[in-house]
This record gives sequence, structure tokens and C-alpha cells, in this order.
Amino acid sequence: MQHRYDVLVVGAGGAGLMAALYAAKGDVSVACISKLYPTRSHTGAAQGGIGAALGNVAEDHWEWHMYDTIKGGDYLTDQDAAEIFAKDIIEAVYELEHMGLPFSRLPNGKIAQRKFGGHTREFGKAAVERSCYAKDRTGHMILQTLYQQNVKEGTTFFNEFHVLDLIIEGGRCAGVVAYELATGEIHTFHAKAVILAAGGYGRIFKITSNALTLTGDLMSIYYRKGLPLEDMEFYQFHPTGLTKLGILVTEGIRGEGGILRNASGERFMERYAPSLKDLAPRDIVSRSIYTEIREGRGVGPDKDAVNIDLTHLPREVIEGKLSEITDLSRTYLGLDPVKDLVPIQPTAHYAMGGIPTTLDGECLADEHGSVVEGLYAAGEQACVSLHGANRLGTNSLGDLIVFGRRAGVKAAKYAHDADMPDMPADAERQAVAMLDSLKAASGSENAAKIRRELQESMMNNVGIFRNGADMQKQVDILRDLKARYHHVSIQDLGHRHNSELIEALELGFMLDCAEAMTHSALNRTESRGAHDREDFHERDDVNWLKHTFAYKDFDNLGHVKLAYKPVMVQGEAGKYVALSSYTPDEAGRFKFPPKPRTF
Ligand code: FUM
Repeated sequence: MQHRYDVLVVGAGGAGLMAALYAAKGDVSVACISKLYPTRSHTGAAQGGIGAALGNVAEDHWEWHMYDTIKGGDYLTDQDAAEIFAKDIIEAVYELEHMGLPFSRLPNGKIAQRKFGGHTREFGKAAVERSCYAKDRTGHMILQTLYQQNVKEGTTFFNEFHVLDLIIEGGRCAGVVAYELATGEIHTFHAKAVILAAGGYGRIFKITSNALTLTGDLMSIYYRKGLPLEDMEFYQFHPTGLTKLGILVTEGIRGEGGILRNASGERFMERYAPSLKDLAPRDIVSRSIYTEIREGRGVGPDKDAVNIDLTHLPREVIEGKLSEITDLSRTYLGLDPVKDLVPIQPTAHYAMGGIPTTLDGECLADEHGSVVEGLYAAGEQACVSLHGANRLGTNSLGDLIVFGRRAGVKAAKYAHDADMPDMPADAERQAVAMLDSLKAASGSENAAKIRRELQESMMNNVGIFRNGADMQKQVDILRDLKARYHHVSIQDLGHRHNSELIEALELGFMLDCAEAMTHSALNRTESRGAHDREDFHERDDVNWLKHTFAYKDFDNLGHVKLAYKPVMVQGEAGKYVALSSYTPDEAGRFKFPPKPRTF
């Protein structure tokens, strides 16, 4: 089946819906394809809020937010992206409020704000209330609000469609090929502009806060076309997932006063981050928890968790402002945070890297700045380099609002002025071949078994703590898993709701993402942000203050070609320059020069 739209958005989470909304306001026809029903997208898992320097509770300024974002990103953040973000998110929050998003309120009626890790006043002096929230259901509220707005603007939705291929001819994107889960039919979507906003790939890890759908499909499809993935080594572990399950326990819980305790009841974060304590940035807190566990101070039957303690907080705060996580603890662990300690452990949460883009969401084809015409990306799938080596909590929701909107505006303008690109007659060929070969396969390998091995080995070898020997082992494991993947066969050959087929396809995408991550991480011989190496413990600004671009190397099975791109920094008179234009000893000329890793 064939479809034609001016702008096509892949993904209906916060970034996709924001991009679709702004494209639809641009006098062009817009469709949105999603693996799910839009309001079930993974943005709904973001509990704690959107950081914006509104100053409703305490004095705050966008410059402080910009600084925190750059410092939290361990200086790998592109500083031009951070400035746009910290300024624009303020007005964007008010825009969401005017669209009807039901934010929690202060007694004076203003949007309520609470503390979150790494968000400070006066360039790091003390924690500040910056997160604008709707109880602990902020992501759900964003989805509901933006979906309603899209319906009003006339966006057409294709739900439960899986994109199998991107059509790029002569450097220009012409659309996508997708599989309809309900019928097994193949659809070709022909479009002037395509925006990719389908989220991350946390499912490559065993313990993750990510929804089942987050398997990195579009990142892999992009990479398979010989296009680069940026900064894939930087993957964030959220400090607090419900033990064994990985379900997110919002950082808002610590923003409201929750305390992390080890087996002896000690508030151990006082030792690791004396000034910010439980509200230090996530990478610091996750590593601190793991250190407690490794050194034998963990709790639970396997001693592989620590406790979050809310018992000193008033019941109305716990059941009011943290109602979702209270429900989840009661339902899944049978524990009541009002009176019980809740065991948590770090959970794979967020990809800082992804498809590289310009500040307007145009997809980069290389590290030199060439773009793929007509193709855009936003949200967790993209890497505009806002989060650098580690994202601050609440900056994901801000990112998808600010950069989703910019991608939507830019794509609509492009589509308004451009002709419809040519669509090759055999556009569906590759997607159909991929499906047919899986259906025809008679090999003895099982996708679920390979997936489990992938998830366990990634967790062990490329998780919170990394070292060269383990990552080299993982390179070999991935090569072996990829070889075995070619022998996967499936039992269900039906057309309707064939989830076995989809899961087998997703496994192929996950293996690519894991490959790009592992090779990028192995090559980066330093520790920065979420990338913490036991064998290279220091941050190395002289050699490594640069972005990684990973390309699939087709000549050499299992090898990845790596290239690098300079970080953008604010130089004299507020101008942004590529860091490589300066020698390191001139770093003092930058407004936000790298500082030591202390919190
Ligand atoms: O802790 C949280 O509520 C998660 C927020 C985020 O990842 O930004």
C-alpha cells in the first residue's frame, strides 16, 4: 500500500508528537507512524519533570541551567545546543501549560518546581528547584497534551506500524517502508521530509527502565546505510530502578527528600558527593550505589541493591506527589514507601548518543557536517549533543520539546518549498527480503536466547563500570551473536500480529546498536560522564574532548570505523567555535572551561 505526505514523523513519543505538531502548524500534510498507540509511548515513563529556570520557588536563570547541563555532560555537551535549550525550554513550558498540561501547582497558583540531581544555583553552589512536574506522571501528561493538540491540527496517525527501511536515494530521503502489525501488510510512505523520533535502545541491557519497544530500530537502519551514529559509548544508568525489574523510581523521590541507605542504614552519598549528596548527577550516584554493592554493603537476597528511604516524609507527600512510584512499589514489590524501605538498583535508562543532527534536527551524514537532505531526527534517537557524556535528570523531556519543535519547524519549511522526491520502483525490496528470509529460515537458533545472552553480556561487560579486557570480550561475543543471528528461525509464519517475527527483527537492530556502542566505548581510553573505565580512570581533555562517530565497516565483518568531531564551545564574545580551533592551553578563554570531576 502506498501513502504520500509532505512530512512523515516516525515515533509518537514527546519528540515525535512535538515535531508533528509544529510541522502540522506549517501548512503541510503530516502523518505520524508509531510502533504503539501514541499515548503508550515511552515518554510516559518519565516521571520527575521538565527542568526549566522559571524561578517559581527560588531564584533561577537560564545561564545556571546551561552551565549545569554542560558540567553534567562532563564538558562533552555542545555549548551552542545548551544555550538554545536552556533559553527555549522556559517559554516551551509555558506553552505546554497553555495547551492544557496539568502541572502540579504552588499555593500561589504558579507551576510547582522541585530539586533534581545536578541542577544548581549560582553555577554549582547549591541545589535549586528547577523541575516543573505533574506529580510523578509528567511524561504521561506530555503525551496526552501533545496527542490532543495533534488531533486538533489534523495529524494522521498510523499506529502499530514498524518501520523496516529508510529510502535514501542520491543523498535525499524519499520516505520509509513499514510493516503493519495487525495485517502483516507492507506500506510505503513517500514523503518530502521524514523526522525520526522513535526513542532509544535500552533493551540491549538486562536491567532497564526502557519499554519493550525500545530496540533502536531506526538507529540500526541508519547505521546499516553506512551513516554514522554519534557518541554511542555514553549510556546512562539511572540510579534508582525497582530491584530486579528496572522499573524507574523517579529521581523526584530524592528531590522530595528521599535518602539512599546501604545495608547498615548509612546515608552513603555523604561520602561520595559531600555537597550534593543524594542529588549529585546520576552517573555519580549510580557508581556510588554499585561501589556499595561491590564492597558488600548491598541489601536483598543477592545483596545487589540498596534502599531508598522515604519513611521520614509525610504520607501526603508520598501518596500525593509520588503517587505513581508508590503504586508501583506496592504492586510489584509488595512494599509501602510510607513505612518500608524500597530496594533499588541502577537501571539502564538513556542513550546520550544516537543519530547525529544539526541544531535544527537535520541528520548528519558525516563528522564534517554534510546532511542527508530531507531527513531529520529528534529526542533520544537523535544526538544534537545537548547531553554530552551524561544527561541531567529532566533534560530529556526538555530536549524532546525544544528540539522536537525545531525539527518539526525546519522539516515543514523544507517540505513546503521542496518537490516530492522520486521513489524507486523497488522501494520495498530490501524490507520484503528481510521478512522473507526470516520466515524461510530453518536454522536452529532462537531469537529469545540470543537476546538474553546479548542483554546479560552487555550488562556485565559494557555497563556502569567498564574496562578494556571486558569490552574486548564483548566485541567477540557480539561477533558470535551476530553470526548466530543469521541462523535464527521462527515458528509463527502468520500475517496477523506476528510478534515473534517482529521480535526477531528487533534483535537484529539491537545487535547493531550494541556493536556501535561497544566499539565506540573500547576506543575511548578515558573516563567521562557515564563512560567510566577502571583502566583509564581520569578524564583526558587533551585527547578525548571530542565526539565519536561510528560507521559500519562493510569491508571487515564485525569491525566498526570510528571518526571524531570537535565539541562546540563558547569562546570570546559569546561566539561558538569548534574546540579543535584552539590549543588546550587556551582553555581559560572559554566561558565554561572543563573543571575537575568533583560534586
Ligand atoms: O527520575 C526521573 O524521573 C527521570 C527523569 C529523567 O530521566 O529525566
